[in-house]
Amino acid sequence: MRIVKFGIIGCGLMGREFASAVARWCHLPEMDVKPEIVAICDTNAKLLEWYTGNFPTIKQVTNDYKTLLANDEVEAVYIAVPHNLHAEFYCAAIEAGKHLLGEKPFGIDKPANDIISDCIRKHPNVFVRCSSESPFFPAMQKIGKLIEKQAFGQILEVNSGFLHSSDLDFNKPINWKRMLKFNGEYGCLGDLGMHACHMPFRAGWIPKNVSAILSKIVKERPDGKGGMVPCETWDNATLFCLAEDDASKQLFPMTIKTQRIAPGHKNTWYLEVLGTKTSARWSSKQINTLEILEYASGEQGWQVIDVGHEMAYKSITGIIFEAGFSDSILQMWAAFLYELHHGIPPTPFAGCVMPDEVALSHKLFTSALESHKKSSTVAF
Ligand SMILES: NC(=O)c1ccc[n+]([C@@H]2O[C@H](COP(=O)([O-])OP(=O)(O)OC[C@H]3O[C@@H](n4cnc5c(N)ncnc54)[C@H](O)[C@@H]3O)[C@@H](O)[C@H]2O)c1
Repeated sequence: MRIVKFGIIGCGLMGREFASAVARWCHLPEMDVKPEIVAICDTNAKLLEWYTGNFPTIKQVTNDYKTLLANDEVEAVYIAVPHNLHAEFYCAAIEAGKHLLGEKPFGIDKPANDIISDCIRKHPNVFVRCSSESPFFPAMQKIGKLIEKQAFGQILEVNSGFLHSSDLDFNKPINWKRMLKFNGEYGCLGDLGMHACHMPFRAGWIPKNVSAILSKIVKERPDGKGGMVPCETWDNATLFCLAEDDASKQLFPMTIKTQRIAPGHKNTWYLEVLGTKTSARWSSKQINTLEILEYASGEQGWQVIDVGHEMAYKSITGIIFEAGFSDSILQMWAAFLYELHHGIPPTPFAGCVMPDEVALSHKLFTSALESHKKSSTVAF
């Protein structure tokens, strides 16, 4: 069993999810590589006790990311910090020779992502991937298998999205994800967009142009100290794209929706693929239910399939049991470590987001900002 010693930089919401996945590694009986957390870094000292209390392997605790990166014992890092820090922290990690799983959007904007991409190119021996767990739900894996088998026939339409609704509460205090300085001009696109792009991009469904409608619904929010402050970022984004199937070169419409104010949706991932031979649709709202329509001739009927627990990376959980968010995170981490160790994921849809896929998402989101501004379709 290869052990990869990890440092975590940014120990908030997502840092904890990674640590919890490390604690559950025994769930994955066929993995021949496993992570061990040896170092943690956050500027908020209050967060660190949970880690040191639960992970006796941690030897280094610091508030300075450069100190962590100077630690020779650390082979790889997970970085989950606000978007304005991505370029600086990711490049420093890569330059220090640490393998990196970095959080999306992988740079606050396209120039920042370009800097990271350049740095990756200069350090080909460092393994770098972007976090996005959306394909690791069993239904998404099944859709991935259908894509691999080219079961859909000619693609007629693809709709992919990620919807939240907690921002419908106008009294929710502001946080960094609603501030331009930390979250960037992309707003909800930077926060949610990579998840919605992951499956289509991996399928080779490449947007050629975009017509975007962006909405700023909440103009100000409580600052948590009795006052109100401007809420500057885009709340909702709907992208209408002309996409090309890389394999057949056929064109079709694709929508990517990322919304923070989607009434009734706490945290909904969805993907719908309509094709001449097969169609499939799944939403995490009914996490265990995959709908498939196979058409030969005659009646067209949707089958409703309970997907259970068939994971990309074998899990000890019984095959009949439904999967959840933390399972998809564990699977994503298995994907990162498997590919780091073996050099290639076991199947195309069992791999984390690659740097060129992230770069494509930045092209799309930047073009979407321009499209909305000009009220026009932007080709790229
Ligand atoms: N994959 C997912 O499903 C998912 C979900 C939520 C957030 N994210 C992404 O994860 C990243 C972090 O988001 P989060 O929700 O965990 O945010 P968070 O605010 O909970 O955590 C960020 C942490 O970074 C720390 N930090 C800030 N400046 C720092 C510095 N200079 N040095 C060290 N630590 C510093 C903060 O103290 C905080 O603890 C973002 O890129 C976000 O887009 C991904």
